[in-house]
Amino acid sequence: MGIGLRKYQNSSNPSSSSTSSSLNEDWRLDTSTAYAVAADWDSSAEPTTRVYNLTISETTGWPDGYNRTLTVINGQFPGPLIEVNAGDRLIVNVINNGVNATTMHFHGLFQNGSNYMDGVTGITQCPIPAGSSFQYNFTISDSQYGTYWYHSHYGTQYSDGVYGPLVIHSADEDEMIGDMYDYDQVVLIQDWYHGVSFGYLPEYLASNNENTEPTPDNGLINGANFFNCSLKPDDTCYQAESKRELFNFERDKTYRLRVINVGSFAEIDFSVDSHPFTLVEADGTTVKPSTFHKVRIAVAQRYSVLMTTNVTASDSQNDTYWMRAELNKFCFKESNPVLDVGVKAAIKYTNTTDSVARLTMVSKSSRVSTTTNSWDDRDANVRCLDLDNNSIEPFEKLEVPNATHFFRLDSSFFIGAYQLDLAYINGTSWVSADTPTLYSAWEQLSPAGLGANSSDSNATSLLNTVGPLELGVYAGNKNQYVINVPDYAVVDILLNNLDDGSHPFHLHGYKFWVMDSGRGNYKYTNYGNWTSDNPMLRDTVTVQSYGWAILRFVADNPGLWAFHCHITWHLEAGLMMQFQTMSSQIGTLNPPSEWQQLCAA
Ligand code: C2O
Repeated sequence: MGIGLRKYQNSSNPSSSSTSSSLNEDWRLDTSTAYAVAADWDSSAEPTTRVYNLTISETTGWPDGYNRTLTVINGQFPGPLIEVNAGDRLIVNVINNGVNATTMHFHGLFQNGSNYMDGVTGITQCPIPAGSSFQYNFTISDSQYGTYWYHSHYGTQYSDGVYGPLVIHSADEDEMIGDMYDYDQVVLIQDWYHGVSFGYLPEYLASNNENTEPTPDNGLINGANFFNCSLKPDDTCYQAESKRELFNFERDKTYRLRVINVGSFAEIDFSVDSHPFTLVEADGTTVKPSTFHKVRIAVAQRYSVLMTTNVTASDSQNDTYWMRAELNKFCFKESNPVLDVGVKAAIKYTNTTDSVARLTMVSKSSRVSTTTNSWDDRDANVRCLDLDNNSIEPFEKLEVPNATHFFRLDSSFFIGAYQLDLAYINGTSWVSADTPTLYSAWEQLSPAGLGANSSDSNATSLLNTVGPLELGVYAGNKNQYVINVPDYAVVDILLNNLDDGSHPFHLHGYKFWVMDSGRGNYKYTNYGNWTSDNPMLRDTVTVQSYGWAILRFVADNPGLWAFHCHITWHLEAGLMMQFQTMSSQIGTLNPPSEWQQLCAA
């Protein structure tokens, strides 16, 4: 078949012509420049203010050739790279020109003293209505650096395209690993659905569904991949525009790949044919360099790996190698006949020594092809697990304080109210509160807030009750399970997963140590026998099906911090709770009046 445009059905699509690659792809972000992390960045610069404008809107686009509605940032998919230094002030103006409300969350950032900028609908803010805007304005902790991302935290919206990478540079990080690589590149990996996310919810949440998540249609690397359009002959799909990412990498150089799983559901095995790599970072924690050839990455996790372009492999054509982001199909409860889990991009060696080569490091190409073979180790392990957290450890040995408090959390799915199949943590299924929980707490605890004159002593005392609030009732809202932790407590969470699916749990505002994890029932007699004296510190961890994990954090950050499964379907089913920490300082938080006005809208 020729490479002419193959179009199955034209509804209201951009004008077509019969030549190849002729469609207007202005909606596609040019990742060749946009995702090359600055090489000349001054990580020792004096702290400064960096401003980004993110305008949300709807458009149609075809990341893998299949045409659908996207919700995009600045008209493009995926979202732009935000780069800052540790210690900088970051201002992000979110202008909502979309049809739905939105928020922006900066995944993994501590937001110390700025919980109201954490971007969680119903917890830290009221959403930004369609047609309005909101300014996020906060300081990046000077002890925080590495690879992060930002995304909408309004329903399942991020799955439709509202996300992008966020890199924090730092002289401290450079000192540890800065000399180990020449170039620095963002690689977003993800599963991909051909429908708009909220369209899947009624069926997913239906009571007869037994928590069967929608199975993705495809996967993407930096927003692109191949799809065989003939599998969906009745739909609009542009075969000639179905492209894979092509990374043009200079020969004999070492590249830092910042791999981020920005997907909705699937765990992904990331590898590059014939290229082992050195893992140096996980979730913003610099780790002792260790060698891997495949890394399993759950939704919302990040890993930096270093790979060197000095391989000669007999199976490579034109010095081109596949980069693979294989979706772990064992985590899917149903198969999807159009899904090819072997998601790929290509890396092509170039001979350019010209530094300009970096600027054209990546390009989309529909004709990328090579014959390299994947690492031959289809592991027999068909479970849905993280990369073993015991196989990596922080670069610098951290002092882990002893726990002062212990909370057990049981997560499970049940048919709940209105016959929906909902998810529960200790019996409470989260539903977004009209008045965000932080708003309630701040009003009650702030000298400037209503609490000062409030006669609602019941609410006040609830907010001051240490420990889990009775039946999850928070300021009168029974869909909020909040654990109020004493100031500076060192908290151990035993997270039990009573479900047959695995859950990548994320804690906002903190990193936690992964003290231990396993399958079956936790044996309390093992408590205190930790496998590592330098356990991994991260912000997202997978708890396997019918398994458990013990996570430890130091409660030193004032606010209400979401703790939830990052699978968007599970989040929507209510798999979220909150920790209220440093209550003594919540009243002194100083949100801008615009933040309050969002709730008046
Ligand atoms: Cu990536 Cu609650 O967030």
